[in-house]
Amino acid sequence: MKLIVPAIPPPCFKPYSEDMNILGIETSCDETAAAIVTGDRQILANVVYSQLEEHAPYGGIVPEIAARAHIDALDGIIAETMRRAGIGFDDLDGVAATGGPGLIGGVIVGIMTAKGIAAARDIPFLAINHLEGHALTVRLTDALAFPYLLLLVSGGHTQLLIVEGVGAYRRIGTTIDDAVGEAFDKTAKMLGLGYPGGPAVERAGKTGDARRFALPRPMKGRPGSDFSFSGLKTAVRRTIENLPPGPVAATDAADICASFQAAVSDVIADRTRNAIKTFREIHPRGSGLVVAGGVAANALLRATLKQVAAEQDMRFLAPPQALCTDNGAMIAWAGIERLQLGLVDALDFAPRPRWPLDPDAPKAVFAGVKA
Ligand code: KG4
Ligand code: ZN
Repeated sequence: MKLIVPAIPPPCFKPYSEDMNILGIETSCDETAAAIVTGDRQILANVVYSQLEEHAPYGGIVPEIAARAHIDALDGIIAETMRRAGIGFDDLDGVAATGGPGLIGGVIVGIMTAKGIAAARDIPFLAINHLEGHALTVRLTDALAFPYLLLLVSGGHTQLLIVEGVGAYRRIGTTIDDAVGEAFDKTAKMLGLGYPGGPAVERAGKTGDARRFALPRPMKGRPGSDFSFSGLKTAVRRTIENLPPGPVAATDAADICASFQAAVSDVIADRTRNAIKTFREIHPRGSGLVVAGGVAANALLRATLKQVAAEQDMRFLAPPQALCTDNGAMIAWAGIERLQLGLVDALDFAPRPRWPLDPDAPKAVFAGVKA
């Protein structure tokens, strides 16, 4: 007997095509960003509004201020993005927004806006994992094939991930305490260099002597690929306390910044070498080492990683800076990758403050203690 199964009506959305236009929205931290990306990897517009000025007086991001600033800015940013792309809402074939992880107030603003547009225009809605946005950017810029090894270094994350496919990630290293961007920001704050700290530390360190202060290299030489930066931050604080009282002299600040960056680069090189070994054991013909996230702007770090990749005969890829820091294009692109696989989200998607890319990853281990 032939069983008659009622056909499930296919979604009435237009399937993926090279000329489709996808709007991407990013609001998970302190950037209000939107972009239009096409199915054939063209970025038609990419607008990022940084809330730096709103948060600068507090020396760090204040979540409530961030959420309000997203509400104020997002509509205008989307309108400007559409204007620069030269398209209207009728030309949109989908809308993707960061659904987490991140500061929940901001994520809600982006997700609600995206749902509203999707419902009004009857187009697909895609809730994107922010980390997946970073992880897939290199496929937007360079069409890199899976699998590859990704070092994600930002203000909130320090992870080594094997990217095997859309939605298929293996985390092989993470920080047991602070993220590396946080360590840059705290170092800058202790030295009175302002916020965000990364660019300020890099600038100040240019003229400094990296050998003057012997700062620790946490986790260096240990098996595995986990990170720790809180000990380094404490060592910077002690170094500053041991200087003559009063404001830190510019030359001392320069030497501390140079020494700090040298320690960070050393640690990251060591951890990444181990990660490459693990990656190669799993994927002997894996294609490349990719760096992403705000800290990927750091010239010393880039140069160090380039060298590590060359030593190991790996291709090294670093997306352009504007696509390494938070932006809407990476969210739109992750949306396009998902649409190609038919992965559309329902309008009852709930924003997620926490959303690991690899939920099965073992926790970081430090001296036998699980963090
Ligand atoms: O990816 P991102 O824009 O935002 C998230 O945290 O998701 O990264 C911001 C982080 C901040 O901690 C900032 O200090 C750091 O990236 N950063 C840098 C540099 N530029 C930005 N760190 C080191 N050197 C830089 N040139
Ligand atoms: Zn980010």
